[in-house]
Amino acid sequence: MGLALFTPSAPPLFGLDISTTAVKLVELSAHGRRGYKLERFALEPLPPQAVVDGGIQQVSEVVAAVKRAVQQTGTRLRHVAMGVPASAVITKKIITPANLDASALAFHVENEADQYIPFALEEVHLDYQVLPHQPTHPEGTQEVLIAATQKSHVDERVEVADSAGLKAVVVDMESFAQQAALLHAMQMDHAMPNDESWVCIEIGANAMELSVMRHGEVIFTRQHLLGGQTLTAEMQKRYGLSRKDAEQAKRNLNPADDVAGVLAAFIQHVVLEVQRALQFFQASVDDARIQQVMLFGGSSVLPGLQEAIAERVGVGALLVDPFAMMALAPRLKRLPIAEVAPGLVLACGLALRRFDAFR
Ligand SMILES: Nc1ncnc2c1ncn2[C@@H]1O[C@H](COP(=O)(O)OP(=O)(O)OP(=O)(O)O)[C@@H](O)[C@H]1O
Ligand SMILES: [Mg+2]
Repeated sequence: MGLALFTPSAPPLFGLDISTTAVKLVELSAHGRRGYKLERFALEPLPPQAVVDGGIQQVSEVVAAVKRAVQQTGTRLRHVAMGVPASAVITKKIITPANLDASALAFHVENEADQYIPFALEEVHLDYQVLPHQPTHPEGTQEVLIAATQKSHVDERVEVADSAGLKAVVVDMESFAQQAALLHAMQMDHAMPNDESWVCIEIGANAMELSVMRHGEVIFTRQHLLGGQTLTAEMQKRYGLSRKDAEQAKRNLNPADDVAGVLAAFIQHVVLEVQRALQFFQASVDDARIQQVMLFGGSSVLPGLQEAIAERVGVGALLVDPFAMMALAPRLKRLPIAEVAPGLVLACGLALRRFDAFR
């Protein structure tokens, strides 16, 4: 299969996020009018070197974790939507004459792609989509979004799915999928009120990423290598703990017991990076007013973090629960979903691809 960045319709599928610290599975079903229900989810930890910088290093470990996640949820579905990191995808918007037929459009796209993609076209998966018409487009033209990724990035994921007895039918760009989940959580399909800017901050294992959304589009992103793993390493050092014990201790960390101040120092570091990123954002746009901060990623639940960021930015900071607007299958009601939900944004966005007629 190809890079199905824009697959128009897919068979029933679940979302499968292969991240640095875990394999994450989310299955959604349609519920009521335009609503969804969380049917199943799983978070299956991965050993430290299994996935590095989005690349799958230890295939057998990852396959085993995927199988465990599937088994644990009891899902019957075998089709999956997976993501490739945005860093592995090149995107470009081009303008073409409007109303081209399919083969003329393909010709245009390949011609353009050949000029700016630094790889031979045989080595890349190429996909494209005509974007909705904007009033700013010249008459008689259309805007086309092209996305290209080296085949190896897609193929390694497709192979993991295969080896786990699954079939990857959608391979999306992670940032697109994540954005879909965020917009749903905010109950804003595409239109955002006038010129509001929302700051989304993901704090994962190794990195934090700050992006600014306006009109449902990402207009600014900045990444910094700081994540929960930094805090775990610091706790190992300060308290002489094994990685596993430090990881456990971190989950029960209470600001009142933070005698060595490791949590406070980490939070301060994060806040400083948020401030720095926002300075870059403010320098890059005319109207840099911010309405709201949305926090997600596995480390966003650290106690005190949300408040510290809100205080520094001077607007409210919300912890994103991608399932907040969804119904919950009865069998899940006893599980501590709120605690893990902010780390399931990408898996949820991938699972939403089940319902996409088109983006
Ligand atoms: N309850 C919790 N309290 C504190 N930290 C947590 C908690 N749950 C998870 N974390 C931390 O969150 C981090 C993992 O975050 P996340 O799941 O977003 O990363 P990932 O998706 O595996 O990595 P990436 O997206 O960067 O490839 C780890 O450092 C983990 O220790
Ligand atoms: Mg992740």
